[in-house]
Amino acid sequence: MASQKRLEELRLLLNEHSHYYYVLDDPQISDGEYDRLFQELLAIEEAHPDWITPDSPSQRVGGAPLDKFNQVAHRLPMLSLENAFDDEDLYAFEERLLRYLLTDKAPDYMAEPKLDGLAVELVYEYGLLTMGSTRGDGTVGEDITAQLKTVGSIPLRLRETDIPLLEVRGEVFMDRSGLETLNRQRAMDGEPLFANPRNAAAGSLRQLDPKITAQRPLRFFVYGISDPAALNCANQKELFIDLARLGLPVNSLTQYCPDMGTVVKRFSDLSALRHDLAYEIDGMVVKVNDFALQARLGAKARAPRWAIACKFPAVQATTKIVKVDFQVGRTGAITPVAILEPVDVGGVIVSRATLHNSDEILRKDLHTGDSVLIQRAGDVIPEIVKAIVEKRDGTEKAIVFPENCPVCDHLLVKPEGEAVTRCPNPHCPAQRLRSLVHFCSKAGLDIEGLGTKSVEQLFDLKLIHDIPDIFLLQKEDLENLEGWGEKSAENALRGIEAAKKPSLSRFLAALGIRYVGEVTAGLLEQSFHSLEELSRQKEEDLLEVAGLGEQAAKSIADYFSDPTVQEMMKKLLETGVQPQVMEKQEEDLPLSGEVFLFTGSLKKMSRNEAKKLVKENGGQIASGITKKLTCLVVGEKPGSKLKKAQDKGKKVLTEDEFLLLLGG
Ligand code: IVH
Repeated sequence: MASQKRLEELRLLLNEHSHYYYVLDDPQISDGEYDRLFQELLAIEEAHPDWITPDSPSQRVGGAPLDKFNQVAHRLPMLSLENAFDDEDLYAFEERLLRYLLTDKAPDYMAEPKLDGLAVELVYEYGLLTMGSTRGDGTVGEDITAQLKTVGSIPLRLRETDIPLLEVRGEVFMDRSGLETLNRQRAMDGEPLFANPRNAAAGSLRQLDPKITAQRPLRFFVYGISDPAALNCANQKELFIDLARLGLPVNSLTQYCPDMGTVVKRFSDLSALRHDLAYEIDGMVVKVNDFALQARLGAKARAPRWAIACKFPAVQATTKIVKVDFQVGRTGAITPVAILEPVDVGGVIVSRATLHNSDEILRKDLHTGDSVLIQRAGDVIPEIVKAIVEKRDGTEKAIVFPENCPVCDHLLVKPEGEAVTRCPNPHCPAQRLRSLVHFCSKAGLDIEGLGTKSVEQLFDLKLIHDIPDIFLLQKEDLENLEGWGEKSAENALRGIEAAKKPSLSRFLAALGIRYVGEVTAGLLEQSFHSLEELSRQKEEDLLEVAGLGEQAAKSIADYFSDPTVQEMMKKLLETGVQPQVMEKQEEDLPLSGEVFLFTGSLKKMSRNEAKKLVKENGGQIASGITKKLTCLVVGEKPGSKLKKAQDKGKKVLTEDEFLLLLGG
């Protein structure tokens, strides 16, 4: 029986398993089991929306988008840290402490990795997460509670609920693999890349739509609380033990150091070890361990006297901006790229650096001719840290962002609230060239012999204008070109021939439709029988494909309704290109032609299992009570959907009847 008690039970159980999974990295149940419990919880909440509590795991998926971020004052200021750069600075820090404390008895310390992310405050009242905010200027930050709730390792409820108020501070960040995957996806979607994990974390948390934040692989580590008096512990070391007990993720590289010698040794160990970590750290934070001493030391204007950040040396160099090029990407995004006087940055010659967008140029106040400090941290793209203003001699020129496309001269657009400026002309030659390069590249059809340089050459020589032209190339077109010969021409033609029967998903990803990467293309292949069928779908039909977002649905519908695209598809078919759809033999499957929706709680399977069964048996899943829906399957305690479906004359089945359709 679905009851409020069961809901409470599920909430606790699911939160407990999230803790095992995200915080302890030690899952106790399978993903399938977790999902079953989660579906059960969702079903109860669907039937009793008034029973939903703020600590329900269902609140992690991100609710409605906000209009703006509200400001929140931190009850106690969130301070910053002073920096040290080497052993000498660390010993000087200790000397200052001793002088201030009028003692010669050196204290003990905690040494913690300094994560490269965004500082946040989480407020727990009687164990319940009630507010999450950015640091802001240290006094006032922004309310990003909905966004922070989507981060799996942030507990929505602490494991003890008798502490009236606990203000926890820590760092939200993205690990290397998360950042890489996100950037790969962004490259495919024609979005500018994040230069480092800090920007990625900040960009992901400062999304008005928490559903976007929910898709970003964010992590969290706690490093302190606003007021040590809130917990009954004497020092930072005990605090970490308490915080872990409460269910908060504590970084396991945190180390107790009885003296400054151990701190210094730890700094050199961490410097060596940092490259092997799953996430970026940019230094080590050293804190006086004892809270009574911390209180005596107090703080200066912006930073406490009892802590210091010892930073790893970033590989930096100075050079000059020779000029700025504006590149037009596959989706029309204009990216300013600084062309630099070549310079060695830690063993790598750097001659270009992306400036990301117009806001970045303004924010850093960069000029052509400026001497600039550039930096390469870890494996990330080199970035311009700042202009060296003192070196200006008046000959520097403002960087003017063009109003028209540097390639096709079409007026550029910058939608309000977006950082990216775009060329909206779909026929822009630069976009066409980048699309061709993408189509032939590894992320596309991976056509052997047609790498970036070759595609650029063929495009410049007007041998290919558009995708179908690739399949019309003849040996005579290629073999006499500069850099080509009989062999390489034959090789390319073999590659082109081999690319004529790609899977539909591969072909779709190769087309470079905005918001259609590998995953989305896979979803589309599963849902449609052919390219032809897909190209006829309206936006609202596409929205019924489970897992497909609104932006993608609109982008796909717009793409295929463009007459130029239709002409291109026709030409492609004529040249013998035939995207293949995996044999589904749906005609013979029991649920072919049926479109299902589930409501209420199912007893014999989870929602996800039910949906999987539908798809495996040739059916489709509807997004709601829609025109396409043919059949509603009703579990226990169905919601309002049942009445709506009945009103619309849809077929209604019980869970058992549904299973009978599949032969029991
Ligand atoms: S303690 C009063 N501990 O570094 C103490 N900060 O430059 C203030 N950070 O804004 C912070 N890891 O975003 C502390 N283990 C750690 C940290 C850490 C990263 C960041 C934090 C802070 C900045 C200070």
